Amino acid sequence: METTPYFLDCDTGIDDSLAIAYLVASPGVDLVGVGAVSGNLAAAGGARNTSDLLNLLGRPDVPVAVGAHDFLSHAFDGGAPHVHGRNGIGEVELAASPTPLREESAAEMLVRLAREHEGRLRVLAIGPFTNLALALRLEPDLPRLVRDVTVMGGTAMAPGNVSPVAEANVANDPEAAAEVFAAAWDVTMVGLDVTMQHRFEERHREALLAAGTPAGTALARMLEYYFAFYAPIFGRPSAALHDPLAVAVAVGGVTLTSAPRVPVVVDATDGPGRGQTIADLRALYTDFAEERRGGSRVVLAIEEDFGDVLLERLLTL
Ligand code: BDR
Ligand code: CA
Repeated sequence: METTPYFLDCDTGIDDSLAIAYLVASPGVDLVGVGAVSGNLAAAGGARNTSDLLNLLGRPDVPVAVGAHDFLSHAFDGGAPHVHGRNGIGEVELAASPTPLREESAAEMLVRLAREHEGRLRVLAIGPFTNLALALRLEPDLPRLVRDVTVMGGTAMAPGNVSPVAEANVANDPEAAAEVFAAAWDVTMVGLDVTMQHRFEERHREALLAAGTPAGTALARMLEYYFAFYAPIFGRPSAALHDPLAVAVAVGGVTLTSAPRVPVVVDATDGPGRGQTIADLRALYTDFAEERRGGSRVVLAIEEDFGDVLLERLLTL
């Protein structure tokens, strides 16, 4: 089977873990490298989680690089232990992978892979965009070298999740996000508009647990922690599927029903709008008939119930 090379940048993270499992379970995906960035936890811890999870998934061969600890304009401030646990994966302990982390940085790895797979590499970013911005600075020709970029981040019309208008991955490093959206590459934005609409419920978690596989059991236990965070928000134990949905949009498994291509800029000022992704959706008034060229593709809706799609794919592991 023909495969496509993918580079993933992440801050693993419970929903990042689901995204990694989805990638590993997806046919045709050649995961050629993974970078870690600070976000849910410090980059070094996120890299260890990523490496240990890949080992559990039977992929200790996938190279993992540590990326930026601090953001472009400010220091990492401790992450989101109330959402993902102190260790980032809901206090679940994974066996240590025998594979050492790479010596190159995540940004260096992305640039190297983009050159090695010129025009073919697909980039996925499911944490703050610091490593991508650093890679753009290292190699200004990067937009030409990669095929496309899919990010979990931002929100076009829905409220934010860390401020009234800002989503966490963008809010953590708005300067980096601004550079990523401004670069001359093909960006698909999978933001809160769609990710808050697709959830894992207790029935999905129980089915994963019942499968009895090492990966299924570990993910189901992590989800207990994530569900507890979301329970007061959604009124029952369940969780939004941010990162795995972004990965599915890129690698396949879902059908986009609304995904206009429009200009997106990031507010990197210090006012109350800091971290907002401002998507110019005025074309909505004309049914997107006048889509502008050169903008980002903003995913607003998909056809499937993604919880079911995700479960089905994870059960193949
Ligand atoms: C994003 O923030 C992180 O906590 C999640 O892993 C996801 O990438 C959602 O806003
Ligand atoms: Ca994430």
